[in-house]
Amino acid sequence: MAALRTLALLSLMVGVSTALDMDCSYFGLLDHLNVSRDNHALADVRPVKNWTTPTRVQADLVIFGILNVDEKAQTLTTQSWSTMAWKNEFLTWNPSDFCGIDKLFVQREMLWMPDIIIVEDVSDTGSVRRSLHATVSSDGVVSVGQAHRLTTTCQMELYRFPFDTQTCNITFTSVTEIGTVLEMASNGSVLTKYSESLMITQGEWSLGSIKISKVNVKANYTHQLSYQVTIERRPLLYVMNLLLPLLYFLVLDVASFFIFEARGEKLNFKVTILLSFSVLLLILQDILPSTTDTLPLIALYCIVIFTLVWISVLEAMLVNFLFDLDKAKRATCSGVHTPAETRILVPEESAGEAEKAEEKPGKYQLSLRWPSDVVLLKLILEEVKVARQEYDSTVREEQERNQPGSYEKVARIIDSVFFVTYVVVNVGFLVYMHNAWLVK
Ligand SMILES: *[C@@H]1O[C@H](CO)[C@@H](O)[C@H](O)[C@H]1NC(C)=O
Repeated sequence: MAALRTLALLSLMVGVSTALDMDCSYFGLLDHLNVSRDNHALADVRPVKNWTTPTRVQADLVIFGILNVDEKAQTLTTQSWSTMAWKNEFLTWNPSDFCGIDKLFVQREMLWMPDIIIVEDVSDTGSVRRSLHATVSSDGVVSVGQAHRLTTTCQMELYRFPFDTQTCNITFTSVTEIGTVLEMASNGSVLTKYSESLMITQGEWSLGSIKISKVNVKANYTHQLSYQVTIERRPLLYVMNLLLPLLYFLVLDVASFFIFEARGEKLNFKVTILLSFSVLLLILQDILPSTTDTLPLIALYCIVIFTLVWISVLEAMLVNFLFDLDKAKRATCSGVHTPAETRILVPEESAGEAEKAEEKPGKYQLSLRWPSDVVLLKLILEEVKVARQEYDSTVREEQERNQPGSYEKVARIIDSVFFVTYVVVNVGFLVYMHNAWLVK
């Protein structure tokens, strides 16, 4: 028992004495690992003891900002943070030998870095901000991180614009190193969650998901790690600026069938709607890139609605023409003056009578009172008779005019048939658009 106690005391003393000897600064550790600017081998050569051992580089990509999506240039600009970690077999130490130092920060240029690029990267120079230091753990794992303003090419499918989601690939690949194997550090759902929690800006777009697929190209021994970033467009602005106004115009156009045809007001109204359409189509030209081969649904929507309104304007013209034809026919057949002429004539006659009637009382007032009243009454009676006759004749004419002619009948039939067809076609088209656009 006593021997055991002395042994323990002895070991404690030895421990204390070695602790006193220990160098607790980073310099000692750097010295031990032989990390310095003069040690070029450490920076130049892949750090494995047996050259056949591959270096497994674990990469992570976190996207925390969607800065710009350029449909015309087909690029996606994101703010992202990528980390890489690999094992350097020469940089291991026992932390208890160095006062518990388990992490070391070393200038990047002193260590070997895997030669990894992003295939789709088209960023300007200066878009990468890397930290100057690499972190080395006591088990030899070196990790580096860098922030990108990353612009990547991305083939965009705009068929469902503005209800579209885009999938862009961000592919890490090792360019020269044969022994470098790329691996993912964490899986896609973790990255998605992490990205969403860090998201600082996304604007028109929201991050859908990040998926990872590992591609191994055996032929030239390069490994690729591909991230599929899915982003969803927020369509509200386009719906408010373009789709809803177009829909409202279409409804107005349908409603304009209830305007009385014979005056040509309907035609004016419809032409106005058509003009408003062209203004909205100008907006579309700004929004939509001309990069797709297939006609996007939004273009189809605009063109079909424009065509529908255009056809309905033509129909209104036809109906108007038929009404005019009828009017012209009646005017030539019956030989009576057109309504416009009678309307002009009637006020002139009555005005003349009225003048006479006003003059006469003025004359008689000076002579006899009673006879003048009698004459006045007679005059009024005559005036009333004339007025009544005129009224009767105008009513008769009006009735004649309201009797629909043959062309007018045809026009009315065309109008109602067209109206029903138009409504059916409109509803059918809108249902089709809804299914093609919004149902996934
Ligand atoms: C190097 O690795 C290869 C393949 O793993 C193995 O056959 C060889 O024995 C290793 N050499 C040494 C010296 O460990």
